[in-house]
Amino acid sequence: MAEEVVLGFLKDHDGINDSGEFAATLGVDHNELVNVIKSLHGFRIVDAQDIKKEKWVLTDEGKSYTVAGSPEMQLFQAIPPEGISREELQVLLFFCLLCFSSISKCILCTDMPSSTILSLQLELVYISGLLKRVDPSVYKIGCSQAMKNKWVEMGKLLVSRKVQHVGDRVKDVLLKISDGKEVGAEDIDSLKKRKLIALQTWKGYSLRKGPNYVVKRMKALTDLTREQLQRGDWKDLEFKDYNFNARGQPTEGGHLHPLLKVRAQFREIFLEMGFEEMPTNNYVESSFWNFDALFQPQQHPARDSHDTFFLQVPSTTKSLPEDYVDRVKQIHESGGYGSKGYEYEWKREEANKNLLRTHTTAVSSRILYLLAQKPFTPKRYFSIDRVFRNEAVDRTHLAEFHQIEGIICDRGLTLGDLIGVLNEFFSRLGMSKLRFKPAYNPYTEPSMEIFSYHEGFKKWVEVGNSGMFRPEMLLPMGLPEDVRAIAWGLSLERPTMILYGIDNIRDLFGHKVDLGLIKTNPICRLGIQ
Ligand code: PHE
Repeated sequence: MAEEVVLGFLKDHDGINDSGEFAATLGVDHNELVNVIKSLHGFRIVDAQDIKKEKWVLTDEGKSYTVAGSPEMQLFQAIPPEGISREELQVLLFFCLLCFSSISKCILCTDMPSSTILSLQLELVYISGLLKRVDPSVYKIGCSQAMKNKWVEMGKLLVSRKVQHVGDRVKDVLLKISDGKEVGAEDIDSLKKRKLIALQTWKGYSLRKGPNYVVKRMKALTDLTREQLQRGDWKDLEFKDYNFNARGQPTEGGHLHPLLKVRAQFREIFLEMGFEEMPTNNYVESSFWNFDALFQPQQHPARDSHDTFFLQVPSTTKSLPEDYVDRVKQIHESGGYGSKGYEYEWKREEANKNLLRTHTTAVSSRILYLLAQKPFTPKRYFSIDRVFRNEAVDRTHLAEFHQIEGIICDRGLTLGDLIGVLNEFFSRLGMSKLRFKPAYNPYTEPSMEIFSYHEGFKKWVEVGNSGMFRPEMLLPMGLPEDVRAIAWGLSLERPTMILYGIDNIRDLFGHKVDLGLIKTNPICRLGIQ
């Protein structure tokens, strides 16, 4: 409606000088008119210029005095001809408990003789304890202003009128301002000082016809329809331009989790390097394959329930290869193949206990055992799957995560081969500066932690663990004596967090993950540095 009136008005006039006045004559809300003007201006149908006006408006306190009168007037009116004590006057200036206007203004109270009001109100005020709660500002302000105006005299005992008639100039001026009338600079100044008025900036527009001016705006259409073509009116219709910069509708469909994407990258690297994937489809493993076969003694702290989740049902494994179990028992208890063993009593019940595998090296031990059952051929194996540890959850630890593991098994391999393979593997991930630090694993000797220099973080970060499987592990399996196995492991979460810039593991994995992250993350990230 407003749009038609604006365009119609501009047809016969040069322009509209003030949108505020125009809105007032139309009887429409100025904000509504402003929206119409902005839209018309956007299409250059009108040219709009900002105009700013400053005007005085009443503060809440100012507004209250336009109804109740100024405090000095309220005070003056409350003083009877014979004068009044300060305390009584103060009570009179409280709000009436019945109608909540000032007592001296209350219709009920003003009809009563002032002595009655006073005694009634005093009683009420004291009984209800209101004396403490009522805002004393009317009395205070009233006193100081009335004194300034020389309307009253504050005697020691009595407050009394000095003049008989006074006018409420403050209220009158406030009313004028609220009606938008002009008032003198002196009045403005004193009301401003008393914080009864404040300056408000008002924004509006002046307008004239724009280059695309039309009396009636046609709504630009977005679709060309069969009916328009049949009727032939498409020629006269206005269509919206194509916006080639607009984003398309977000595509609906499945989204791969970042862990799956990075997993695919690692898998690709292993496959390119001639590795075979190991079957990792059992989260439940026996302690035997997870620990004992790896020459991890039964008293090792990692085998404690603080670090490992043991199963209650089924609590033990069904079967183990008995002759191999015997050889493992022997190597733990008394050694063999040149080793002293651990010299303790190895217990079968401990080996039978089921658990959630704590590392994918459990899978590696099964595979190496199977490999040993056939005439030896060199092999390269890898796995990427989930493992479980009974850990306190924090920003870098969860009770379950994914491990990436690689093994090469061949005759005569050396530590040099392991270092060479690790350099090859990690450089394919964009990590070419590696350093190794001696470490300890029960199943590898020597063992090395792998560090990579992170160009972004400007420091060496630990990226994995590695080693050569011990003869105490390989020989009882039945592998030939000159066969060595070099292996390494790392977590999948850590490189994924670095690649995707995630610093809290709980944002990546688990029930707190934001699905938005899964839907909007990049298809792939190149280079881990
Ligand atoms: N199993 C080790 C771990 O859980 C990783 C590793 C694998 C170390 C193979 C050496 C050789 O951290």
